Amino acid sequence: MYIEKRSRSILKTISWRIWATITTCTIVYFFTKRFFLAVSVGGIEIIAKMILYFFHERVWNKISFGKKSVKPFVLWFTGLSGSGKSALASRAYDYIAEKGLRVERLDGDVVRSVFPKTGFTKEERDNHIKRVGFLASMLERNGVIVVSSFVSPYQDARNFVRDLCQNFVEIHVDTPIEICEQRDVKGLYKKARAGEIKYFTGIDDPYERPQNPEIVIKTEGQTVEETFSCLKKQIDRYLNI
Ligand code: ADX
Repeated sequence: MYIEKRSRSILKTISWRIWATITTCTIVYFFTKRFFLAVSVGGIEIIAKMILYFFHERVWNKISFGKKSVKPFVLWFTGLSGSGKSALASRAYDYIAEKGLRVERLDGDVVRSVFPKTGFTKEERDNHIKRVGFLASMLERNGVIVVSSFVSPYQDARNFVRDLCQNFVEIHVDTPIEICEQRDVKGLYKKARAGEIKYFTGIDDPYERPQNPEIVIKTEGQTVEETFSCLKKQIDRYLNI
């Protein structure tokens, strides 16, 4: 985010006018073969148009016509480990960032790598989700779109975040546990089944399915791109396009 300073605007005005006036002088000289006339026309033009351009730009800055306002929102991807929420959230982040909008990404694994002592008991997860949810709401309040992906298995904690945010979009990445377990990208399901990891969501810890999510995504038998092409249409609604 930046504010264009008056000095930058003036410099742009001058640089553009130099190029434009050289063009005018060349055209006048080409047709008349009169050097003095070409330079005079260029001289008058450069002053008149610099002034006009400067005011023209400032007037347009005040006109809202043709601008669409986007109300910030929080995309909250929830689902089992291995459901595909992080991949989809990253794809959604790229899509929004490509539009030049201010967007931030929050992900469970990333936040936990910064705070490695965050555990997986209900109390620890609740505190973790409330903290990141608060952060998401602050970003949203300051005009930033937020794309978060957390297992966030408890409805109460998700509702807590919903209440903090102004425009909360709960996205349930609804991949069956059998598929997540087959994928087992990080080998965590195997460890959980072997009892090496405790409180593993879907194995020995519950996942409370969202009761009223704004969006439900099925990933089974689809690539990230295929799934995202459906999700994109829904995101566009929040982007007001
Ligand atoms: S949350 O439940 O507190 O929202 P979060 O999204 O931050 O979880 O982190 C989940 C990630 O931690 C998963 O992607 C998984 O790779 C890893 N993980 C390690 N242990 C567990 C566990 N017991 N339950 C769920 N995920 C776990």
